[in-house]
Amino acid sequence: MRIETLAVHAGHAIDPSTGAVTPPIHLSTTFEREADGSYPRGYIYARNNNPNRMALEECLCALEGGAAAAAFASGSAASMGVFQALSPGDHVIAPVDAYHGTSRLLREVFAPWGLETTFVDMTDPAQAQQAVQPRTRLVWVETPSNPLLKVTDIARIVEIAHAAGARCVCDNTWATPILQRPFELGADLTMHATTKYLGGHSDVTGGAVVARAEDEFFQRVRKLQIQTGAVPSPFDCWLVLRGIRTLPYRMRAHSENAMKVAGYLSHHSGVEAVHYPGLKEHPGHGIAARQMRGFGGMASFQVKGDRDSAMGVAATVRLFTRATSLGGTESLIEHRASIEGPGTRTPDNLLRLSIGLENADDLIDDLARALG
Ligand SMILES: Cc1ncc(COP(=O)(O)O)c(C=O)c1O
Repeated sequence: MRIETLAVHAGHAIDPSTGAVTPPIHLSTTFEREADGSYPRGYIYARNNNPNRMALEECLCALEGGAAAAAFASGSAASMGVFQALSPGDHVIAPVDAYHGTSRLLREVFAPWGLETTFVDMTDPAQAQQAVQPRTRLVWVETPSNPLLKVTDIARIVEIAHAAGARCVCDNTWATPILQRPFELGADLTMHATTKYLGGHSDVTGGAVVARAEDEFFQRVRKLQIQTGAVPSPFDCWLVLRGIRTLPYRMRAHSENAMKVAGYLSHHSGVEAVHYPGLKEHPGHGIAARQMRGFGGMASFQVKGDRDSAMGVAATVRLFTRATSLGGTESLIEHRASIEGPGTRTPDNLLRLSIGLENADDLIDDLARALG
């Protein structure tokens, strides 16, 4: 089946007891045992599994073309599940511009635990190759990256990881399985903040790990999901699954709007640089055109001037909301260096945009007014 059909039907079934077309939310934390002590319906206790989580995991698997999925309480919890499935003493290669929460997890939580990480410019495969060590077990890819929208050649990094005997994990949050299919490029796992496009309405926090093969590494991720209890609630799972039903159409509209906004900004005299992989002059455009089916809804731009000039634009917009996060129906603007804090590598004059589903011309009018 094609992806639009999977998004509507995977993980969905008519409720057998009522005929409800929309799945019920099962809040029960515990499930009945048979007289012989067995659980023929497969559910024991909600932390282990529950019908809403099972349905979401089934749908995520179908969308990514994977063999198994584990839903988590947030994107960060999903990343934690992957890192903790490694062993102290293992070595990770990660992008220097990974989502700042992922870098912080590696630096502040997993370095003291014994995981060593080398941060490289993942858009340069030679750097990834050079960072390989005998204990390298994982190569983390995030593409397009945050907030400079740098594009990594997934297939090339997979080759390097596999030659080193390591797994390649792709944070596919920004592209979603609609625009990018890392398993087709050889990646072993994908990670998602379902908080973003999959949920799609800025009303649920969640995460997921999807595996191409249900192997021993994924079994460890599953064990961590259940034993550490880093699980989403049934309602959260229901909301993400509901969001996914419209994901293919939303991603197309996000991409179309972002292309128009980025094109407009690229010709504005008050703009120093625009970062959007859909623009022909973007350094990663060729790779993005090859490995993506659309360039996504995220863009960033540097205002001519300094931090105050950028803050001035963010202060003047009316339609864009000044807020962090991304992937909802509404457009957001963010001075990224402020949220990343001390040590950020993000230029001070950069504003990140999450382009929503409004009419692109209204978004352009709003930016035009703010840029003067
Ligand atoms: C690319 C990416 N990965 C992971 C995360 C973390 O997700 P969460 O905030 O749900 O923990 C985010 C959040 O912004 C993100 O943008």
